[in-house]
Amino acid sequence: MYRNIGCGEVSESDIGRTVALAGWVFRRRDHGGLIFIDLRDRSGIVQVVFSPEVSSETHRAAHGLRAEYVISLSGDVRKRPEGTENLNLSTGVVEVYAGAMTLLNKSAPLPFSIEDSEGASEYLRLKYRYLDIRRSQVQENLIKRHKISRYIRDFLDKEGFLEIETPMLTKSTPEGARDFLVPSRLNPGEFFALPQSPQIFKQILMVAGLERYFQIVKCFRDEDLRADRQPEFTQVDMEMSFVDSEDIMGITEAMIRGLFRETAGIELSDSFERLTYNEAIERYGTDKPDLRFALELADVSELAATSSFKVFLEALNQGGIVKALSGKGMAGLSRKEIDMLTQDAQSYGAKGLGWIKIKEGFDSPIVKFFPQQTLTAIAERLKAEEGDLMMFVADKKDTVNGVLSRLRNELGRRLNLIKEGFSFLWITDFPLLEWNEEEGRFEAMHHPFTSPLDEDIERIISGDIELAGRSKELSSMKAKAYDIVLNGYEIGGGSIRIHRADLQAIMFQMLGISQEEADRKFGFLMEALSYGAPPHGGIALGLDRLVMLMTGASSIRDVIAFPKTQKGQCLLSGAPSAVEHKQLRELYIKTTIAL
Ligand code: AMO
Ligand code: AMP
Repeated sequence: MYRNIGCGEVSESDIGRTVALAGWVFRRRDHGGLIFIDLRDRSGIVQVVFSPEVSSETHRAAHGLRAEYVISLSGDVRKRPEGTENLNLSTGVVEVYAGAMTLLNKSAPLPFSIEDSEGASEYLRLKYRYLDIRRSQVQENLIKRHKISRYIRDFLDKEGFLEIETPMLTKSTPEGARDFLVPSRLNPGEFFALPQSPQIFKQILMVAGLERYFQIVKCFRDEDLRADRQPEFTQVDMEMSFVDSEDIMGITEAMIRGLFRETAGIELSDSFERLTYNEAIERYGTDKPDLRFALELADVSELAATSSFKVFLEALNQGGIVKALSGKGMAGLSRKEIDMLTQDAQSYGAKGLGWIKIKEGFDSPIVKFFPQQTLTAIAERLKAEEGDLMMFVADKKDTVNGVLSRLRNELGRRLNLIKEGFSFLWITDFPLLEWNEEEGRFEAMHHPFTSPLDEDIERIISGDIELAGRSKELSSMKAKAYDIVLNGYEIGGGSIRIHRADLQAIMFQMLGISQEEADRKFGFLMEALSYGAPPHGGIALGLDRLVMLMTGASSIRDVIAFPKTQKGQCLLSGAPSAVEHKQLRELYIKTTIAL
């Protein structure tokens, strides 16, 4: 037996007992006669005292202990002498006087101090991830992640969901990212794709009559990485039969409410906020607004049209818009500070940032282009007052919204507008289709299996709608799709699916996917739909993002045991890496890069 109690569990009630402990030497202090070490295991830290009066042999051996040596020992728990308690430690009122000790393993000198691993560079922390995890915040995050997954599994089990695994070696799935490919040795020249999500398989499980499916599952997308994006990430993936959007949103809300109650002691509001996609874009410029602060954008296009400011008029003439937001109390910014804001806006894609201070009247190099009543009307629209700074972006609609939504987040941080807490939001009524300028065709906004609204289904099936080209009718169609947003992050999305093969075929037509391409890529789903597919729908939550937000981490890397870097590398294992010629030959692969 190595131990009978965890280091962090030794308490006052153990005083007088002999305990057995095992763990890592965290700190060592040599005080002449006595040697003190802080012994650490996953449960915490306890102070161990080596005294020649208890055992001169053990005391002598303790001189050789170094940071991160692994030991086991037995000793008596004593109350610490008055004035030497450490209230920062859960075990801070006791200490263990070591009798016998065994050195279980030594440690090489460390690349960084475990105690201060947060201060080490991210490169070192990821290369020696096992050292980083020994004590850092990451360990707590992983424990929390375990509790969250466990709650979700229990909840869904009680609700009648079955956890079913779907293949990792599969065919391309249509989530819109690039695939990771795996060559097939047994089928020369052919490739599997790692799943971007289990989308098609979960729909087929509904056709198979399983009615309620879930899976906590790895998904793979070869995308450019960001703080909230990894090439492999985890979804809580769900699918249900005989449901509509409200059923799925309802069960997701119940799960999240229970999750916060049971794993964080937080009681969330009775029902989550809701915005339609159009409303969200109009008011916040994004379909994932952070509603912890109220700041809103306003479209001032008609007002801007009454000005003689060339920049605005040109944008409007080219079919663009002018939108604005107001920064409370920001009229005091210097020219230099405003230039920096302009640079921010430019880095988000704007050509520039128009600004007007409200400071004893309207103050800006551009006020001369605006009639007085226009300025007053703009200020009114923005609810801007004396002391505020009004900021404008003129451009194509998407650019304006993209820039201002990011500027809004920046102002939220700078002006300390963001309230603590968790602000959940459903975005509904997404457009069904999105025009792809480059390819000159529509794409599915969610994915091509998403159902249009019932009234649109009628119109599509009856043949009333022109399916080719960029018609207004197609642009205005709405999907039975919903996203869930938490504090400005998209933490999940889903939809009701098309369950009729004829409608699915028309959908592919609208997306400019030929019959031949549809058969080749999704023929197996189309065929399955033709054998009595029930109405069905689902959702997938991004588990990494959810855990990141629940733990207060700033990147999903902090809640993943072995994350990848910005360049998609695993610093610990050194993957990706070159492989042997022999392996490539077996796979019939020739690289154009010399190995
Ligand atoms: P979607 O593509 O919206 O939907 O993905 C669902 C959720 O997964 C998370 N997510 C990511 N997290 C980390 N890194 C990534 N690269 C990444 N990509 C996505 C997000 C997102 O909301 N099959 C559909 C779901 C459905 O229709 O049921 C799907 O995958 O939080
Ligand atoms: P310019 O005419 O380029 O000297 O710009 C005059 C002011 O308008 C500067 O403050 C620019 O930052 C700002 N500006 C330029 N382009 C835009 C734009 N597309 N939207 C809003 N403001 C702009």
